[in-house]
Amino acid sequence: MMRLNKFLAESGVASRRKADELIVQGRVDVNLKTISELGYEIDETKDVVMVDGEKVKIEPKVYYLLNKPKGYVTTTSDERHRPTVVQLIKTNKAIFPVGRLDFNTTGILLLTNDGEFANKLTHPSFKAERIYTAKLNYDLDEKHVEKLLNGIMVDGRKSKFTICEVLGKNNRTKIKVGTLEGRNHFVKKMFETLGYKVLELNRESFGKFKLGTLPLGHYIELTKSEIDRIISK
Ligand code: URA
Repeated sequence: MMRLNKFLAESGVASRRKADELIVQGRVDVNLKTISELGYEIDETKDVVMVDGEKVKIEPKVYYLLNKPKGYVTTTSDERHRPTVVQLIKTNKAIFPVGRLDFNTTGILLLTNDGEFANKLTHPSFKAERIYTAKLNYDLDEKHVEKLLNGIMVDGRKSKFTICEVLGKNNRTKIKVGTLEGRNHFVKKMFETLGYKVLELNRESFGKFKLGTLPLGHYIELTKSEIDRIISK
């Protein structure tokens, strides 16, 4: 048995709170009977749930870890008809990316149809550290390393890297950075604030999820128990 609002949330129709609103508005039927009682329980294995007359079901949850190549948008569709990361994955499930990577950024990206999992991972309270390697247009000044680690103003907010290390032996353009931020273009904005341009960006890890040796454009499917094991490591 399962609460009707939880069923609606897990099927992706609405958040639990919004699902309660749909129920109160009389838009939800169970076995062809309108239910307006909050807290109503259903047998999810056999009851037929409809919202506005359309049947709703919970799809099994799927999880993919992709090494995103350049030239793909991290949305499910694109008004400019550019290729999307979803097209790289063979599935009939309605998957979406967990967070964003820019069109020309490469690296680790999780995709799923599990909204609760995606929200949990991208919520600041989860503190998922993202680790990137970046190639800059100029050698990174030692003074700037300090600044990037201590915090600079980006979009009116004090912002910093958790890691900032020069990787190159002969030059200082290849940099490893870490951040707890999920803001769009965050790495580029941090460097741009100090006058650098990011020429290449690759995400090596997202929280406890790592790329390992997965080639560009390839992906693996993870089960929920593998996901739980990785998260609890
Ligand atoms: N920061 C960026 O600037 N771009 C990305 O794709 C990810 C993080």
